Amino acid sequence: MTRLWDKGEPLDELILRFTVGDDYRLDERLVAYDVRASCAHVRMLQEGGYLFAADADALCSTLEAIGAEHAAGEWSIAREEEDCHTALERRLIDRLGDTGGRIHLGRSRNDQVLAALRLYLLDALETLCATGAELIGALQQLAQEQGAIPLPGYTHMQRAMPSSVRDWALAFAAELEDGCLGLRASRRRISKNPLGSAAGYGVPVLALDRAVTGRLLGFDVQQEPVTAVQLSRGKAEATVVFELALLLQDAGRLAADLCLFATQEFAFVQLPAGFTTGSSIMPQKRNPDVFELIRARSTQLPAELQAILAITAKMTSGYHRDLQLIKEPLFRAIDQGHDTLRVLAHAIPGIRFDSERTTQAMDPSLFAAERAYRLVQEEGIPFREAYQRVARNKP
Ligand code: ARG
Repeated sequence: MTRLWDKGEPLDELILRFTVGDDYRLDERLVAYDVRASCAHVRMLQEGGYLFAADADALCSTLEAIGAEHAAGEWSIAREEEDCHTALERRLIDRLGDTGGRIHLGRSRNDQVLAALRLYLLDALETLCATGAELIGALQQLAQEQGAIPLPGYTHMQRAMPSSVRDWALAFAAELEDGCLGLRASRRRISKNPLGSAAGYGVPVLALDRAVTGRLLGFDVQQEPVTAVQLSRGKAEATVVFELALLLQDAGRLAADLCLFATQEFAFVQLPAGFTTGSSIMPQKRNPDVFELIRARSTQLPAELQAILAITAKMTSGYHRDLQLIKEPLFRAIDQGHDTLRVLAHAIPGIRFDSERTTQAMDPSLFAAERAYRLVQEEGIPFREAYQRVARNKP
């Protein structure tokens, strides 16, 4: 048996390659989570009286051993195996014979994949927020060290009001913090126990207690009714990528500011030589490619979100193989999002604001609103009159 559904009929090689696609490679990151979910499933079968304790213990310890060997790089999923679920069951049967063949009672890959994906997403949130916190910390540090340096505030890219490096850095820190809260809030969509829904219509004949897997895996709620489970696939994924897109938007706008501030015309910031890249033809160049790529990466997340939403749109209810294709944009979004946050957190401590240049840029026009407010305060005139007076004798 290579695939779980093999009935001894030969399979067309081209069809197998197409239907598996990259799934066997993408599933590498789900192996550890499928091990955890499978152990919980085994304990549920045991509690229901469908597995002897000795078999359940053997299944769990063998699953853990296979998982550890995978983590140590001793095996990987073969294309012929299709996915992580098959790869694990196959190895269980190789080692435990008939006992291995008992694990798939009361489940389907359709609920298995959701359980593994959800456990993975809960971990991914932690990793993303930890790196987000590093970036926030770097910005707060920048505010502490260079915060007093004045900076013009711009609207429409025209000088507007006086600001400072502190207010610039802390603005991004605050929004990134809010972004991390948003990311964490996507837990509501993720933390639902799909196990026990099997192919999408529940488990006939057997009396299984879904609460056992829910408790063992730490899911906040049971997903009910079981027919809702396949309708929800893609929603937690879309929520995470949406929140990540918002987070990355701040990273992209911060990077766009730095690209502008690093131009010779502005020259508000200096980037360390090691952070810039050169030109093959112009010997003088030191380019801020890292910030350009952060800016560009931030625009790719909405595209990944769109890809996820498009897959589930208009599909009839129940499981469809289409759903498999959600993994690719999801994993790419998470990997690239994380990578972008990490590189930005690494780059921020290298930024030096040039206070001479920024102070020169603080021309009197930046204080026009301030002057109008003083007139109101000192002379008690209406704001509109003060505005006109200031506008007329332009600085
Ligand atoms: N790789 C599949 C997915 O991600 C796993 C479930 C397969 N189920 C099936 N009925 N073919 O959706």
